[in-house]
Amino acid sequence: MAEGDILDMTASDLGIAAAPRHVALIMDGNGRWAAARGLPRFEGHRRGVEALRRTVRAAIDLRISFLTVYSFSAENWSRPLEEVQSLLGLLHRFIRNDLSELHANNVRVRVIGARADLTPEIANLLREAEQVTQANTGLTLVVAFNYGARQEIAAAARALAQMVAEGRLSPDQIDAEAIAARLDTADIPDPDLIIRTSGEQRLSNFLLWQAAYAEFVFSPILWPDFDRAALVAALDEYAHRERRFGRVEAPRSAKTAS
Ligand code: FPP
Repeated sequence: MAEGDILDMTASDLGIAAAPRHVALIMDGNGRWAAARGLPRFEGHRRGVEALRRTVRAAIDLRISFLTVYSFSAENWSRPLEEVQSLLGLLHRFIRNDLSELHANNVRVRVIGARADLTPEIANLLREAEQVTQANTGLTLVVAFNYGARQEIAAAARALAQMVAEGRLSPDQIDAEAIAARLDTADIPDPDLIIRTSGEQRLSNFLLWQAAYAEFVFSPILWPDFDRAALVAALDEYAHRERRFGRVEAPRSAKTAS
């Protein structure tokens, strides 16, 4: 079979039994990709957007239901101003240029992260992407922008504390569900698979709560080189994982009896 044939197949065609419903991506390595070629960091980010476009198309083909991408962390504001501006510009252009294709492909765009301190221009752009696509029923593309998991959890804790202070909730009603329901991801299933590119092996304040039972795949590929084949390879690795969610595996006799 030619390599192209494999790349054209869906996850179920490939016999991947356990396809993840929700894949989350830490798109890392843009700067190193650029440095290795003697190019400015901006060029790495620009090629990173192309990799994102390829990956979204592949996720649609592979019938993934949710794809979350870490596009700008709450901590990324501390990068040099020029780099922050180039990342904001790329987000702007991505939504302006790609929203019609995403909409035509039945993609629903959701944005997670703090909105309060964004410029009205960026906030309106994100709102527009969500509103235009809100009735779509295909892939949900969750863009994590100005996102930090600790900040998200702190905001949920504040909302619950406010309810307790107002006498609308008692402290013993605060459980995992109550917290999850107040996260930005309240109506989004937890990620099954988190992929981080560039060989780094950490979460960097991404989906800390939601990652409780996620599987991790760390790829050595630098993000601008990521493509459908790399995504399929990660799905294949995921399909060989045994997920137990803290339980023990049922004894063989019990399994065959049921
Ligand atoms: C990490 O690479 C990547 C980011 C901080 C930003 C991710 C952004 C994109 C893929 C493009 C922008 C997409 C949108 C939708 C705005 P790094 O710069 O930390 O790389 P390094 O670790 O090699 O320096």
